[in-house]
Amino acid sequence: MKTTRTHSAVIEAKQLTKHYVLGKDNELPVLKAVDLTIDRGEFVAVMGASGSGKSTLLYNVCGMDRMTSGSVLFNGVDLSRLPEPALARIRLSNMGFIFQQIHLLRNLSVFDNIVISGYLCGNRSRSAVEQRATELMELTGISDIAANDITQASGGQLQRVGICRALINQPDIIFGDEPTGALNSRAAGEIMDLLGGVHRAGTTVMLVTHDVKVASRSERVLFMMDGRIVAEKRLGTYPSEGNRTADGKAREAELARWLLELGF
Ligand SMILES: Nc1ncnc2c1ncn2[C@@H]1O[C@H](COP(=O)(O)OP(=O)(O)OP(=O)(O)O)[C@@H](O)[C@H]1O
Ligand SMILES: [Mg+2]
Repeated sequence: MKTTRTHSAVIEAKQLTKHYVLGKDNELPVLKAVDLTIDRGEFVAVMGASGSGKSTLLYNVCGMDRMTSGSVLFNGVDLSRLPEPALARIRLSNMGFIFQQIHLLRNLSVFDNIVISGYLCGNRSRSAVEQRATELMELTGISDIAANDITQASGGQLQRVGICRALINQPDIIFGDEPTGALNSRAAGEIMDLLGGVHRAGTTVMLVTHDVKVASRSERVLFMMDGRIVAEKRLGTYPSEGNRTADGKAREAELARWLLELGF
């Protein structure tokens, strides 16, 4: 399934619902008629209490999980109608994923973990994939561990490997579920600097996070409560490096106040 990049929205979810079936006559409604549009090039963060449905929203808009009703258009293509192989193809070629615990292949080197999705995608030659992997490792500062076993890398390094892997096929969108959740604040800041760079280079980003500092990097914060998006805040473009210290702090404070008003 080919998707086009001419649509101004990357994601358009309409009346998206998800119920988990817990047993006979026992369904848990987790997403309740969610409407969400993410424009090309946007950086959106999703916040809300534990259990409010943030991860479920992410997994349903990226086609990893099957929605119960409603629709999700990705680059104009309705994911609810696609069979699993076509969905898998879109996830591999057009989407990148970064999770709290990244799922890397333990018996492969750092480099091989990065190139494998590029080989599987097959849109470019092996040498072009390897060239891109080399560039991405330079960008993220992990060139020196390319040949190492994945088990020897630190948490921050693993997250960098995850970013390289997520970017190898030049996706339209990067999805992250608590991508810095397992890192100390310094490593988290470095990962957010990298993701900020990815966004400035034109990639759309959708992140689920509990962390105000992380969310303050985004342009728009959605707040979920009990399976619905109940509020959103536009923060505008994150300040450039020179103005970051003061403006970045002010953004964080503004976001924290908003969250407090929402009872978070
Ligand atoms: N596979 C599943 N089967 C049944 N219920 C589930 C499943 N996954 C999630 N849930 C339930 O759906 C609700 C929302 O879960 P979700 O993981 O989306 O929350 P979240 O906002 O991401 O929370 P957290 O901040 O803790 O990660 C919770 O009540 C959870 O128990
Ligand atoms: Mg979650």
